[in-house]
Amino acid sequence: IPTMDDIDLHSKKVLLRIDINSPIDENGNIIDDSRIKAHISTIKELIDKDNSVVLISHQGRPGDKDFVSLEEHAKLLSRYLNEEVIFVDDVIGPYAREAIKKLENKRVLLLDNVRLISEELIEAPPQQHAKTFLVKKLAPLFNAYVNDAFATAHRSQPSIVGFPLVLPSAAGRVMEKEVFALARIFNAEDTPKIFVLGGGKVHDTIRIIENLVRKRIADRILTGGLVAELFAASKGMNLNPKNMEILEKLGILSLIPRARKLLLTGAPIEIPVDYKVEVNGNVVEEPASKVTGVIKDIGSTTAEIYSSFIKDAKVVVLRGPMGVIEDERFKSGSKSVLKAALEGQGYVIIGGGHMVSALDKDVKLDSNKVHISTGGGALLLFLSGEKLPALEALSMSVVNSSD
Ligand code: 3PG
Repeated sequence: IPTMDDIDLHSKKVLLRIDINSPIDENGNIIDDSRIKAHISTIKELIDKDNSVVLISHQGRPGDKDFVSLEEHAKLLSRYLNEEVIFVDDVIGPYAREAIKKLENKRVLLLDNVRLISEELIEAPPQQHAKTFLVKKLAPLFNAYVNDAFATAHRSQPSIVGFPLVLPSAAGRVMEKEVFALARIFNAEDTPKIFVLGGGKVHDTIRIIENLVRKRIADRILTGGLVAELFAASKGMNLNPKNMEILEKLGILSLIPRARKLLLTGAPIEIPVDYKVEVNGNVVEEPASKVTGVIKDIGSTTAEIYSSFIKDAKVVVLRGPMGVIEDERFKSGSKSVLKAALEGQGYVIIGGGHMVSALDKDVKLDSNKVHISTGGGALLLFLSGEKLPALEALSMSVVNSSD
């Protein structure tokens, strides 16, 4: 794939796709800004080369609580860059286009949440996305497109795959670093490989598990969060109607046949033996066979069992928290598995903003032992050997820089 060294990026107007999709709390505050920090060096490099830089990113999905404007993100970007980042609450309208045209060299502008444009939710091939309103309205205003959004590299959406077909394009430094680092550290011979998979993106995760199992990449998959509940329900465990209702509402019960198929073919998938649940506002630990409350975290016995597996692994990949970590009372499962991974003998890859936010802020991480990826789903698809649409599109990029 072309990198920033392969196209002319001096005194140009550059469209930079970043992924600053961050975990957001009940009050709309950003809980973890590591994805925002990650892109600073790419932006700085483009400023140093006298480019004017327009940033484009998504946050959440329409209908979800974390589907918010990027105004707060702009403030954090300004703080870490030590430069004003102009925020424009528009994406492709006349106001945004005028602001882009007027943007001077060395200045940075952030457009609002790209998923305000409905096209951005459509998964389609690059050729189709190159003809979207988004690409047609924005591309003529730029000389180059840089994709630094490794974390969204698994989505075939217009802001990811549409621009490389019409603009000279390259991978940004975050994208480059992730792809090269992961390719180097993820060695097929290093076994056992343990995947600790939790969180709420169950539809994505089951697809990833299917890949990991088919290609025999994972020696053991330890589940938490809603992923664990899906497999527990698929095994016929009685999760209590309260939890089943939640799974049904989220459309997760429809995944039971796929989960059952995985279990029946002997996939090495482990589920919790106990949970931390909430009953009338109180936190209680309950065995998996007698759940009465709403499941909010894995229990302490599960955390212990998972930790012992993790400590002996050669490679540990953690993605998605074990519980509802936005609530301090349900953070301990995620903290335990992270602690075991960092204390263990294996190489640790941590992905997804939520899991990263469960790390202790003052813990010193050795980069020879730990890779903190900006990616969640993208990371796992990459590790499972699937082609990432963002990289495929970059490899089709037009080569000649136009002014
Ligand atoms: C992620 O957090 O995995 C990426 O930002 C992609 O977000 P999405 O799952 O809403 O497409």
